[in-house]
Amino acid sequence: NMAPMPDAYGRLLTYLRVSVTDRCDMRCIYCMAEDMTFLPKAEILSFTELERLCGAFIRHGVRRLRITGGEPLVRRDVISFFRAMGGWLNRPDGQAGLDELTLTTNASRLADYADELRTCGVRRINVSLDSLDPGRFARITRRGNLTRTLEGIRAAREAGLAIRINTVAMAGLNEDEFDTLIAWCGEIGADLCLIETMPMGETGDDRTDRYLPLLDVRRDLAQRWTLEPVGFRTGGPARYAHIAETGRRIGFITPMTHNFCESCNRVRLSCTGRLYTCLGHEGSTDLRAPLREGADDSAMMDHVRAAILRKPRGHDFLIGRSADDPARVTRHMSVTGG
Ligand code: GTP
Ligand code: 5AD
Ligand code: SF4
Repeated sequence: NMAPMPDAYGRLLTYLRVSVTDRCDMRCIYCMAEDMTFLPKAEILSFTELERLCGAFIRHGVRRLRITGGEPLVRRDVISFFRAMGGWLNRPDGQAGLDELTLTTNASRLADYADELRTCGVRRINVSLDSLDPGRFARITRRGNLTRTLEGIRAAREAGLAIRINTVAMAGLNEDEFDTLIAWCGEIGADLCLIETMPMGETGDDRTDRYLPLLDVRRDLAQRWTLEPVGFRTGGPARYAHIAETGRRIGFITPMTHNFCESCNRVRLSCTGRLYTCLGHEGSTDLRAPLREGADDSAMMDHVRAAILRKPRGHDFLIGRSADDPARVTRHMSVTGG
């Protein structure tokens, strides 16, 4: 039950994103290459190892945990991990514990898991969905099936989970669909969050051509929807507005046009046990080696604290950075789960 760990700029690390697998049943064009090779099992932390690490983070002040991937729900027995993490919710006052346990998913397997997630203490989920048109959905995800995703979303609603739809805004792909998505989210009672595409890893798609500045999108949407800025925050980078016509919120994640790094509260743990202190930098710290060599929690957290003190002030994403630019992030989004 310790105070949150501060970084060199005084930001407190209260939010941990954990990727439980690098695998996914889709290949979204902004996230993965068509022919991804995935890691061998021995490289991936077992749930016992992940539980040990997450527990240490929670005892050191982490209050929110988001499970990501790849696609977290493709990992076998992932529910046992949610159950273990759910055990950190609702702890007595004064004891270390989580305020929130969440997940980001493509919903392909959500129909099978929604009820169990709710039982494990999950109350709110983020679902990636970039188009409501089956052909476009297939083109963007390369392997996804819109019907299955929509079934997953329906199951989550029926299980009583609050839903935020994540839509990566892409010129020439879904830029004419935001009105439809806003209206549909109003109908199903979900929030919507538009995300600027971030240049990470080679994916076989040109994100410079796809890049849409969301400040412009928002200005355009404001001609047809009454957008009232609200102070509501989820602890992440999204800035929200209330949409009077639908009664739901719309969020904007704008790493490229608006820097939210000064209030960043998060670190990321990859499925191989590497700690990434910034999405937009290559630097990472291996926690798996000390873990597998038998380090105790205090030795482990010394590595973590040292890494956090090196957390950069902000990302250096730049649309159109050339392939040989050393500041370019070459790892795929699926390694750290966004
Ligand atoms: P909430 O807890 O609901 O606020 O979720 P979130 O927006 O933090 O998480 P989600 O997994 O839904 O991610 C949505 C988008 O935000 C993804 O494209 C992430 O890559 C991006 N994102 C999340 N955290 C960061 C961050 O610290 N820096 C940057 N640049 N992008 C981030
Ligand atoms: N840029 C922006 N968002 C991305 N996501 C995956 N890759 C990218 C990218 N290159 C989003 C997914 C998912 C979230 C975790 O990250 O759509 O909703
Ligand atoms: Fe899979 Fe999500 Fe990446 Fe799409 S964005 S390939 S659903 S991990």
